[in-house]
Amino acid sequence: MQEQAVATGRFAAIVLAAGLGKRMKSDLYKVLHPIAGHPLVYYPVRAAVEAGAVEVVVVASQDTLGPVREYLEARFPDQTIVLTVQEAPRGTGDAARVGLAALSTDAERVVLLCGDTPLIQQDDIQPLLRKLDEGSDLAFATCVLADPSGYGRVLRTQAGDVTAIREDADLAPEERQVTEINAGLYAGSRPILEQAVARLEDGNAQGEFYLTDIVEFIASGGGKAAGLPGSPDVMVGVNHRGQLAVAEETMYRRIADGHRQAGVTVRGDARIDDGVGIEADATIEAGVRLRGTTQVGAGTLVDVGCVLTDTSVGRDVLLKPYSVSTESVIEDGAQVGPFAHLRPASRIGPDARIGNFVETKKTHMRAGSKANHLAYLGDGDVGEKANVGAGTIFCNYDGFGKNPTVIGPGAFIGSDSQLVAPVTVGEGAYVATGTCVTKDVPPDALAVGRARQDNKLGYAKRLRERLAARKKKA
Ligand code: UD1
Ligand code: MG
Repeated sequence: MQEQAVATGRFAAIVLAAGLGKRMKSDLYKVLHPIAGHPLVYYPVRAAVEAGAVEVVVVASQDTLGPVREYLEARFPDQTIVLTVQEAPRGTGDAARVGLAALSTDAERVVLLCGDTPLIQQDDIQPLLRKLDEGSDLAFATCVLADPSGYGRVLRTQAGDVTAIREDADLAPEERQVTEINAGLYAGSRPILEQAVARLEDGNAQGEFYLTDIVEFIASGGGKAAGLPGSPDVMVGVNHRGQLAVAEETMYRRIADGHRQAGVTVRGDARIDDGVGIEADATIEAGVRLRGTTQVGAGTLVDVGCVLTDTSVGRDVLLKPYSVSTESVIEDGAQVGPFAHLRPASRIGPDARIGNFVETKKTHMRAGSKANHLAYLGDGDVGEKANVGAGTIFCNYDGFGKNPTVIGPGAFIGSDSQLVAPVTVGEGAYVATGTCVTKDVPPDALAVGRARQDNKLGYAKRLRERLAARKKKA
């Protein structure tokens, strides 16, 4: 393989993200639509940062400025991210002009990215910068698409030199045959870009200032504009929901492949968000969704259909099928599910067990404790090796506030018990099946709170005969 030289020189990046995204038919601005756990605009910013941009200017609309700034500043705290506003969506050329004016460094080169091309990575930016090293004034990424409709087309001379980019709406009939499209990723010398955008006009089919017109200015003025063909997989621009789906599929495939390369078994259509961490030798089964800041430890099996959001899972955990967990912690060796529901602030301790149809919320199941069947455990603290029987309810809510249930180590809660919080069951205590616990149970005590059973001998037979006779008479 040929060694690729690393491009020289400092560069700044501008991300164009102020468009309305009308084709999305959405109340949400296009660049805020999420894929794989981040809004679209996050990805081009990250690509620019990873490629080494000394600063990233993001051109937002007045309405998106706040949310975009908040999101990006939280994710790139050490980076110079400058937010600027394009007053009205007058086209990509106008947005680029606004972006260039907002640059705060003296970088001599500028990379321009669209906020709606989330699959572009630093590897796609580097070749354009190298092209500048080789003497081009402008370099932009292209690819050949079987269906180029909607994209700007790259027009070349017979010899292959780029002459212009023509937008879809402005194509002459013979230009419709062109299948090489403009991907919306450019690198150029800053003074040349500044001169070119100053000349843009909006006399086109859409009445917009097209950034793409700078190619014709540069090429016709004796400058060198290079179109670099790349892989179509990464070039998709998200303009409508169909393209959102295509970009998302590619993104999820890319993320899953990254984990596989790092030693994780990821099966079938498991979907793992960007930002999820998984240690080697974990297994993620088909149909699983791992979202947000979820972490999964080595040797853990996340079985079919589990949905984990912002959940930290330790090592050698068994998450049985169709379990759901949100903002919770599952420690080493624990077993959860099938069909368990861990709601926020649940903590399942080492080797603890949560079985089918158990719901927890803000409850700490300490090491080795168990609740294996059909229970609601809210605002609880269940001591080490305590056992919570089937059908147990922590009655934590009185209609106004939440109250805690504390169960000591080694305590045993019989099936179908209700614990009316606030209440404490002491260490080693025993709650008899079917008890409604309304007052604290001292350590090692037995709490029984149920009606006494009375067996009336022969009564069932007599009752049957009487009922049968009545039915016959009627
Ligand atoms: C653009 C290119 C097209 C290319 C395609 C690649 C132009 C004129 N056309 O078309 O050649 O094939 O991208 O995906 O550049 N934006 C602003 N302000 C505006 C308008 C747009 O910031 O006034 C931003 C949008 O938020 C978006 C990006 O610029 O992130 C591209 O705009 P969009 O309207 O999607 O352009 P395309 O029609 O896709
Ligand atoms: Mg677009």
